[in-house]
Amino acid sequence: MKREILITSDGSSTIHLPDWNEQYHSKNGSINETYHVFIENGLKQIESEKVSILEIGFGTGLNCLITYLEAKKQVYYVGVEAYPVTADEVEKMNFISILKAENENAIFKKMHKVSWENQHEIAENFSLKKRKQFFEDIVDVDAFDLIYFDAFGARVQPQLWTVEIFQKMYNALKEKGILVTYSAKGSVRRAMQEVGFMVERLPGPPGKREMLRARKITEPLKVN
Ligand SMILES: C[S@@+](CC[C@H](N)C(=O)[O-])C[C@H]1O[C@@H](n2cnc3c(N)ncnc32)[C@H](O)[C@@H]1O
Repeated sequence: MKREILITSDGSSTIHLPDWNEQYHSKNGSINETYHVFIENGLKQIESEKVSILEIGFGTGLNCLITYLEAKKQVYYVGVEAYPVTADEVEKMNFISILKAENENAIFKKMHKVSWENQHEIAENFSLKKRKQFFEDIVDVDAFDLIYFDAFGARVQPQLWTVEIFQKMYNALKEKGILVTYSAKGSVRRAMQEVGFMVERLPGPPGKREMLRARKITEPLKVN
């Protein structure tokens, strides 16, 4: 599918798919979206010293980069992606300059350069494993504290926002694990609830009224 580079409202780049009129990030700011949806409402909600993260759609590596920049703890990051971006596309992403993170340019490059299917120590507190895999083939069980659910929208890929896929996400999370996504669609919320998630609607990133956060809580609540 054809992919073009686009600059979003906060000045940060993204990839645009003209055939679907869809982007890898919000047109209202790639970096804004990542901070709001995945960092503030995801990463910062995790209290443990170590966090294992599953990303649904590694794409340009923006969520991975900002997680690295913001991580105050040990991170084990698994990025799943079936259609990796090219080295040329990575080169055209301006995240490092917009974030004024020039010192971390080598780390961002390394995130893209390291081999698929192997775990790599990207930095002292950050390990990354990229899996070239279809989301439909994910079979992890009780493995992650946090899922960044960043698939293309339900308008263009409705098959990725279903009970079947959210059952896989539920299975992949540990008890009390959290899934965050930019989507706020009623049908998505209901599919999450159907597999057992407790779902909250939260204020969305710029340009979006709401987003969703789902929690896996299987143990009955203790009543005193
Ligand atoms: C919204 S983009 C992810 C953006 C990414 N998180 C980032 O920070 O750049 C969705 C990603 O899902 C990938 N994708 C689409 N369908 C897929 C599938 N069935 N299995 C695995 N990856 C898929 C696309 O190639 C794309 O990289």
